[in-house]
Amino acid sequence: MDKLVLWLFFVTVAINFCNAYKLLVVFPFPAKSHSILGDNVVRHLLDAEHEVTYITPFPTKNPRKNLVQIDVSENFELFAGNIPNITLILNNKMVFNDPVKKFKLFTKLFENTITNVNVVKLLSDTNQRFDAVVAEWMFYDTYSGLSSLYECPFIWVSTIEPHSLILSLIDENTNPVYVPDIMSSNIPPYGFKQRVSELYTQLRTLAFKTFYADVACKEDFESFIGPYFTMRNKDIPSFYDVNGNISLILGNSHVSLGQATRLPQNYIPIAGYHIDSNVKPLPEDLKNLLDNSKSGLIYFSMGSNLKSKDLPDEIKRGLLKVFGELKQTVLWKFEEVVSDLPENVHIVQWAPQHGILAHPNCILFITHGGHLSTTETVHFGKPVIGIPVFADQFVNIERAVNKGFAIRVSLSYTMADDLKVAIKDVLNDNKYKERAKELSAIYHDRPTSPDKELVHWVQHVVRTGGAPHLRSPAFLVPVYQKYYLDLLALILAIIILLVISLKRILKSKKKENIKK
Ligand SMILES: *[C@@H]1O[C@H](CO)[C@@H](O)[C@H](O)[C@H]1NC(C)=O
Repeated sequence: MDKLVLWLFFVTVAINFCNAYKLLVVFPFPAKSHSILGDNVVRHLLDAEHEVTYITPFPTKNPRKNLVQIDVSENFELFAGNIPNITLILNNKMVFNDPVKKFKLFTKLFENTITNVNVVKLLSDTNQRFDAVVAEWMFYDTYSGLSSLYECPFIWVSTIEPHSLILSLIDENTNPVYVPDIMSSNIPPYGFKQRVSELYTQLRTLAFKTFYADVACKEDFESFIGPYFTMRNKDIPSFYDVNGNISLILGNSHVSLGQATRLPQNYIPIAGYHIDSNVKPLPEDLKNLLDNSKSGLIYFSMGSNLKSKDLPDEIKRGLLKVFGELKQTVLWKFEEVVSDLPENVHIVQWAPQHGILAHPNCILFITHGGHLSTTETVHFGKPVIGIPVFADQFVNIERAVNKGFAIRVSLSYTMADDLKVAIKDVLNDNKYKERAKELSAIYHDRPTSPDKELVHWVQHVVRTGGAPHLRSPAFLVPVYQKYYLDLLALILAIIILLVISLKRILKSKKKENIKK
């Protein structure tokens, strides 16, 4: 009997030992919404009994079992001058969409992260092993070098819908005729002008990547990760080989949110994985407020990066006036105390968004249209008024409008009036609500939940030594072969030769005729 128990004990230990992997998760960008994505990757991997080392600017006080946090909160300093401010954006004093500036900022983020004392300590430990590295992709590639250091598979997490830049890392550039650029609000099918504009954007991006970004990433790899190879008595591999060795992309995307883009086998869409399937119960006061909002509650939040308190006073007053005239309750995530609030308007400094959106009495969400908020509205099936401010928010809202569950209001000094009209429209016309419900049903109708997909595919990659069988053969095909440019050149050469020979023959025939 004792022997049996002992034997069972060893078998259990062995099974657990074999199934638990050591994973390095890298989310160094100091923005709340990005840390939500990182934290939930970690949560699901820990739930599946894996060991996680997590590079994060938001370490928690009491980390869970099997979690080691590498604190890179110093990265906040880098973004001190770049925190989006609503009024500066409103007055065109803050511009975000310059691709060169963006690339340089994320280059600095990498350099800051990789030279952070805590990261240096981690990388200098030559006994450290990992089974896979999972990192967030933000316009910059060199993180893939961490995998070759540990000779393990590499997985990107892409934060938004699939686009050419991310898919070209494992497959090929998308066709600009039907896949819009990452920052483009165009929705296919395109007219001639849009088609040309998308082509121009793609060519410009491609040129920037090939002649500038790729070179910069390669140099960073050699100077910042290179020394750790030397430390381990290994040759520094070529960055071309390293960056072409991506096993998988986990995409925070789903066809119900974006468009039906063709995807390679090693791109797995997992949008919604950050939403807990058991929504936490609301705090008592909020629960009462929602329960008692008989005409429904309108929830208004500009997300975690933008602050409503930064709005100019005249807009704040205008909004309060519009809200005060409604018969619905309004819940506004606002970061300051407001005196003489209308009776139906309530202010919270922090809002448990999932719980609020999940409540049946929440009938409308007024949002900045961040990717997470947009995902959550579809998850909970609520109609939207979008006030996009920067980055991908314009694209997200444009898509939501096109899908029929949203109205867009532009950020402007007259936005209170526009908002009044939009609120009336959404509440009086059932089509917005119904469309939101329809999309929500599509979004939830999947064979497995996104968190299970996430864990499964990470494990699959580790179990199969980097999942080489999933890789797209298109990735290795050079452009001239893809478009048969060599064949075209050959045919052209033959035609030219034929024409020349024919001309010669005709010429000599003519001469002969003249002689005769
Ligand atoms: C390529 O990835 C595999 C695992 O997928 C890893 O073992 C190997 O070291 C990587 N090679 C390079 C050059 O990064």
